[in-house]
Amino acid sequence: MNIIEQPQSRTDTDMADLAAAFPPDFLWGTATAAYQVEGATREDGRGPSIWDQFAATPGKTYHGDSGDIADDHYHTMPQDVALMAQLGMGAYRFSIAWPRILPDGKGTVNARGLDFYDRLVDTLLAHRITPFATLYHWDLPLALQQDGGWLNRDTASAFADYAEIVARRLGDRVAGWITQNEPWCSAFLGHGIGIHAPGLHDLQAAVNAGHHILLSHGLAVPRLRAASAPTAQVGITLNFTPVYPADESEETQHCVERSDMFANRWFLDPLYRGSYPEGLFENLGAKPPAIQDGDLAAIAVPIDFLGVNNYSRSVVRGDATTTALLGCEIITSVPGARYTAMGWEVYPQALTDLIVRLHREYHVPALFITENGAAFADEWNGDSLVSDPQRVEYLREHIQAAAQALQQGAPLRGYFVWSLLDNFEWAEGYSKRFGIVYVDYATQRRIIKESGHWYSRFIAAFRQAHA
Ligand code: FCB
Repeated sequence: MNIIEQPQSRTDTDMADLAAAFPPDFLWGTATAAYQVEGATREDGRGPSIWDQFAATPGKTYHGDSGDIADDHYHTMPQDVALMAQLGMGAYRFSIAWPRILPDGKGTVNARGLDFYDRLVDTLLAHRITPFATLYHWDLPLALQQDGGWLNRDTASAFADYAEIVARRLGDRVAGWITQNEPWCSAFLGHGIGIHAPGLHDLQAAVNAGHHILLSHGLAVPRLRAASAPTAQVGITLNFTPVYPADESEETQHCVERSDMFANRWFLDPLYRGSYPEGLFENLGAKPPAIQDGDLAAIAVPIDFLGVNNYSRSVVRGDATTTALLGCEIITSVPGARYTAMGWEVYPQALTDLIVRLHREYHVPALFITENGAAFADEWNGDSLVSDPQRVEYLREHIQAAAQALQQGAPLRGYFVWSLLDNFEWAEGYSKRFGIVYVDYATQRRIIKESGHWYSRFIAAFRQAHA
């Protein structure tokens, strides 16, 4: 240590140790999605999406909020990227709005849409930030919905065509492609219980849509590879909620298995084992989707990485008398547990368990945590301070959990905080803040939260450890 340096505080020492637990090529970044941050929904030729329509339908989102303006990122992109650079980010996961590229979902390409993402990628690279692009983060072009959306098998091929169009333009520079974000949410929340667009309430529709979403991934992978640089990595992002038993009864054990199949294996098994989990559809009271010859092989096409979104766990109890889905009672208040503003339990061990399981049981060759983070009721002091100690704690504990998974041999390659900015949290509108940067929606001013400063120092410590 240089003699004029201040002795490090204990927390800084802890931070340096934690940072040193990650390999030198580990990527640290943040994530966002187009509809949640961009705004400018009617600009430069963008077509309408199912989320524009859903948000405009009374009663669907908190306060009737929509992504019309959101963080105005479509206009503030250069400053937002500069902010990422100021924080020392190494990577950025964003999503591409299909209706900006193809306003009708297929057919005529809107050059101005492609231009925006071209500028974004170049701006990121100019700041040495590695671009990871998600092709579908829920904003299906409305025109495709009018032909049945994900219930129509043709939407899978339309997606593969769209993916190729984007890759032809950006594939020389995008480091990581994520085909689909959280098919479970698109299928189940969007078609099964209707709390997301397109708002259907039909479990059979969820099952059918889920299959076409998986197929869209399988069809897009070879098209992305063919149109991208050989170094580009191709993967998919799934959301996972590890399930734990509330007691030791056999009934509860069965309930854990059913819930795990539903919450975690529905999309994972077809991708990595080439089949749907046995009993899954029956448990949902549905029939299997229409699976054509070759579908399962297409879906199980080898990919370079799995993106993992994880926020929490669930705790369940078997209950023969309940009418709840899967015959499971979900324990929403675990004694002594901490909860975020979403009502999600803070349980970092779930992240370790999950990553280790994906490594040991599914032999996933490379993993990225593509989302992890927390919403809290953050308050800005009107000046430059947003104190969010609970989020600092959440991030520190989950990064520790990631380090433990690495120690157990899991091939974890990167971590993206959800989210860079407070943004449009779907059905919750603007009522939930996930950012490490606060957004004052009235002025679009950005204020780095304490968690943003913390994450920035952590990344600096990581770089220092490998300097
Ligand atoms: C995930 C979504 C993301 C964000 C977080 C909180 O399910 O992928 O867009 O809303 O949850």
